[in-house]
Amino acid sequence: MPVTLIIGAQWGDEGKGRVADVLGADADVVARYAGGDNAGHTIAVGDEVFKLHLVPSGILHEDVSCVLGNGMVINPVNLLAEMDGLRARGVDLSPERFLISSRAHIITPAHIALDRASEQALGEQAIGTTLRGIGPAYLDKTGRRGIRAGLMRDAESFADAVHDAIERANVALTGAGASPLDASATALKWIDAAMRLGPYIQDTSQYINRRLGEGARIVCEGAQGTMLDLDHGDYPFVTSSSPVAGGALAGLGFGPLHVDRIVGVTKCFSTRVGSGPMLTELDGALGQRLRGSGENFWDEFGTTTGRSRRCGWLDAVILRHAAQVSGFTELFLTKLDILSGFEFLKIASAWELDGIHLKLPPENLEDLQRAKPVYETMPGWDADLSRMRYQKDLPPAARQYIRRIGELCDTPVRTVGVGPEREQQIALNDAL
Ligand code: IMP
Repeated sequence: MPVTLIIGAQWGDEGKGRVADVLGADADVVARYAGGDNAGHTIAVGDEVFKLHLVPSGILHEDVSCVLGNGMVINPVNLLAEMDGLRARGVDLSPERFLISSRAHIITPAHIALDRASEQALGEQAIGTTLRGIGPAYLDKTGRRGIRAGLMRDAESFADAVHDAIERANVALTGAGASPLDASATALKWIDAAMRLGPYIQDTSQYINRRLGEGARIVCEGAQGTMLDLDHGDYPFVTSSSPVAGGALAGLGFGPLHVDRIVGVTKCFSTRVGSGPMLTELDGALGQRLRGSGENFWDEFGTTTGRSRRCGWLDAVILRHAAQVSGFTELFLTKLDILSGFEFLKIASAWELDGIHLKLPPENLEDLQRAKPVYETMPGWDADLSRMRYQKDLPPAARQYIRRIGELCDTPVRTVGVGPEREQQIALNDAL
């Protein structure tokens, strides 16, 4: 397996970090290709819980190298804080095993202030961003005025560029009624970040292609999910990058023929943070039950923002779309254990719009918002799944539920997660 892609099939938070941690055990390199510290990946290793925002989950495996790809937007100060936190817990983050693309773009405090100002200006129509400056940073990238990480090799020039970018943003900020930022003070502070991160900067596309030539196995860890994709998600309630399979190729710089496994990751139900349509959302007690109380780290509260997630039944229309856009070769289902104890379960197998049953989402938001889910109802199960490790142990109703998901999106479910720990997963075969 030269390259495995791990892709979110829903609205992010599917458990991709956990899957990357599991698949990373057999990899030589784990690489992130899109987004920035809007992502939040939680991994449980024994008694320890790691919450990662920028550093790929593979870092927890000693022999794995990790890459932040050119498709990412990186806040250097937040990255250093995350690296320091990991180092304090004994994780090796030397430049020999942790590489940052010289072509990745930098998030400055101006991007964060602009993100906030833009959300405030939108009022009730706000996207509900993570306020990490992601959209404004990608806007500068596509506007061809962004700062690339490569500039951190020269701390003085980097500080000058940060200074100028903040001065420029101050015009927009004051125009939007927000306070301007102190460009000189920020630039001074960021010299330090540049000096510390400079040694990590490389042409990571060349690195990855060289490693592929040597026969290395590479896992690409997606962030966010298909429905947050700038093109294929429910625009404008999306992020500003491409979390789908194509985004991995562009965001790391290698050719498609290296890819032989594309793992779509989905929860066994739906969750979403931020605004935007979610046809299967449950408002009442059932939604609350899926969300959890917030006492456990795996309950449905954002790793990055702490916001409570909207919860609902699984939506096969979304999954089918995700499988098609990225060409999933298999599905990894997470959190099946959470569904124990439900008397019945529902899956939206289609959406109804103007009397027609749709198998895939309509391309415009107005139609999408008018559509209604068409549900299939299935029996639930009571057994606690968290200690189960074999397919044969699963109750018949759980197997039926998994089988139906695979049928509905025409993609085999190969693994199911039954708890947050590394070993809490069950490999599945065709005899399910
Ligand atoms: P942004 O990426 O901060 O611009 O946010 C745009 C939309 O994507 C908002 O609805 C966010 O809640 C959502 N989003 C961004 N990153 C994640 C993530 O890692 N998990 C879930 N939702 C996310």
